[in-house]
Amino acid sequence: MKDSTEKSKPWGGRFQEPTNELVEAFTASISFDRRLYRYDIEGSIAHARMLVRQEIINRKEGFAIVEGLKEIQRDIETGSFEFSPGDEDIHMAIEKDLIRRIGDAGAKLHTGRSRNDQVALDVRLYLRAEIKEILEFMKVLKGAFLELAKKEAETILPGYTHLQKAQPVLLAHYLLAWREMLDRDESRLRDCYRRVNVLPLGAAALAGTSLPIDRAYVARLLKFPEISRNSMDTVSDRDFVAEFLFASCLIMMHLSRFCEDLILWSSGEFNFVEISDAFTTGSSIMPQKKNPDVAELIRGKTGRVYGNLIALLTLLKGLPMTYNRDLQEDKEPLFDTVDTVKACLQILAEMIRNMKFNREKMRQEAEGGFSTATDLAEYLVMKGIPFREAHGIVGKLVSFCSECKKELAQLSMEEFQRFCPVINEDIHDRLSVSNSVRSRKSYGGTACRQVMEQIRQIEEGAYPSTRRRKEA
Ligand code: ARG
Repeated sequence: MKDSTEKSKPWGGRFQEPTNELVEAFTASISFDRRLYRYDIEGSIAHARMLVRQEIINRKEGFAIVEGLKEIQRDIETGSFEFSPGDEDIHMAIEKDLIRRIGDAGAKLHTGRSRNDQVALDVRLYLRAEIKEILEFMKVLKGAFLELAKKEAETILPGYTHLQKAQPVLLAHYLLAWREMLDRDESRLRDCYRRVNVLPLGAAALAGTSLPIDRAYVARLLKFPEISRNSMDTVSDRDFVAEFLFASCLIMMHLSRFCEDLILWSSGEFNFVEISDAFTTGSSIMPQKKNPDVAELIRGKTGRVYGNLIALLTLLKGLPMTYNRDLQEDKEPLFDTVDTVKACLQILAEMIRNMKFNREKMRQEAEGGFSTATDLAEYLVMKGIPFREAHGIVGKLVSFCSECKKELAQLSMEEFQRFCPVINEDIHDRLSVSNSVRSRKSYGGTACRQVMEQIRQIEEGAYPSTRRRKEA
């Protein structure tokens, strides 16, 4: 039985039987790849211009194609374009509609190309645009961390290791640590961008084409600084997607860790930070609750971005050369990642501008837990005692303090000297959290001078700097 709809498929020539309905629905990607429409049209216009220039099609045909494609774009954007699952994917939907609009000239658009290089082009154009947007969001978030660091330049925070109080630090130092991570994330994205920014069109199905196409011209039109060198690699390659997903995983991992701190810090137990009402939600049963859901969701969404990377890597690992339909499955993880990363970066930047640190509580906590014990050990080192020995002496002092429920700074000189005779009055300068922070002036340390210098360098745009590192 012949079916007229079958013959309407661009590849229908050799088929005697219509596609099974389930197969049609199962193989269609139009429901999600339609978001590539703009890039598909942009790529097709460049391809058509090249075909005219190379005299593969004539000017009139080229003009009709370009105008037809622009009309299609307008219709898609105004919502009057009708997508049907029978169109399979965005490439065929647009081509079919072009032929319907302009007839034979439309049927010449696909000359010298395949959907295999076409889809690679669309994804590269899409990702190029999205990376630029993500970089903008990252810039905003980095700016928010910097602003906050400037505001909290004197706030003292207990620094933790193993989630046990370790040493006092400046809150600004802590905040700039996140900015550092985002800086690396940004440079990873920029690096990935270079490998995304390569023209695949012209690889055709896998082997190139016998037609006299001009790939360099298409590259110029679409602003690709490079052209892929091997047509087989070109239609197989999704490394650039995997790289982007990995870069996204690290961004999400950083956001997630920061959110974890916020979640802990906004608990009654820590009470270091208050996230504004606008960025928290209540409980449907417990009237007293104010939950840090945004932070929790960012932490949660990190899992799906990791999942997207694993999905793609798994998809790729067993594929024979070259294009395989499995590759159609690259799109949903990619789109989902782009959406998730953008949403998280955006909302986090807003949220951190809308939170208040509880400076007194932080300071109070920084003062407890023998957080300046290392300062005492370093004091002994400066008096000529070997560090290991100093460590032992301070350990005993801490244990003594625990027993008699005192802080180190509360010990009398007689008590200090019972443990180590070299300790004298100048010790008291060393045991306050402010002095502790002030003294950590090694490069990259938490001393105010170091932190201020970092802020200055960031604002000058000279940071991260490759210049010689100056000790304060
Ligand atoms: N929708 C397909 C994809 O996303 C487009 C390429 C189809 N190529 C093919 N030979 N069937 O990968």
